[in-house]
Amino acid sequence: MSEEEEMGWRCVNDLVYQSNAKDRNAAYTRLASVYDIHMENVGAVANENLVKVAFEFVKNDESSLMLDVAAGTGKTAKYFKDSGYVGQTDGIDVNAEMLDIAIRTGLYRKTYSQEIVDHSPLPVPDNTYDVAAVVGAFLENHLRTGCIPYIVRALKPGGLMIFNCRITEHNKEYLGKLMGIIDSLIDDSKMELVKKKEICFSRSNSKEDGKPIKGWAFVYRKL
Ligand SMILES: C[S@@+](CC[C@H](N)C(=O)[O-])C[C@H]1O[C@@H](n2cnc3c(N)ncnc32)[C@H](O)[C@@H]1O
Repeated sequence: MSEEEEMGWRCVNDLVYQSNAKDRNAAYTRLASVYDIHMENVGAVANENLVKVAFEFVKNDESSLMLDVAAGTGKTAKYFKDSGYVGQTDGIDVNAEMLDIAIRTGLYRKTYSQEIVDHSPLPVPDNTYDVAAVVGAFLENHLRTGCIPYIVRALKPGGLMIFNCRITEHNKEYLGKLMGIIDSLIDDSKMELVKKKEICFSRSNSKEDGKPIKGWAFVYRKL
């Protein structure tokens, strides 16, 4: 493994394996300025691969409005734009340093520097967005699975929730809870599955099992 990859994995591990929200946020603050470089060093392709899977289903005209949930440094908005997205994007993230970098891309109409929780709505109007994209943030000690109904609430009827999730031992229990919440929304006729596809998350071999990290890309529609 090259020195750059080693440093990249140290950064990823520092962000992913913190044990509480305060330490996780402090790690993002510390690493915000080097985040994009380290993601490149580990061959992170989670954003572009989700966009590839979801793009054909997304309403793409100037009236389209996307919410980038846990926007980080703005990589999702960037890959959408590179794919030809012409709509507008709002972003929300709890970490001000990460969000500052996103704001400087000039790709966001509005941003919200706020924590997403599982007991109150997002700071955005209901029934507003054509797409809510959650990339790399449905994992342990990041977004709580209970926030999903609030994300769905922000979507217009017919709007899409698109997201990805790592397939790792560390994320197994979390993924189970996440799918449980989504299945109950489906049972209540609030959502339907549009597409599910296995994707590569990062090309370089992870420390967890020495293999490239795989993930799921999902596209759901609000009914
Ligand atoms: C791995 S980064 C992914 C960022 C971006 N979506 C991307 O794909 O590059 C995870 C982001 O989630 C944010 N985050 C984690 N927990 C959050 C929460 N509860 N509310 C809002 N943002 C959160 C972090 O601050 C960080 O910017």
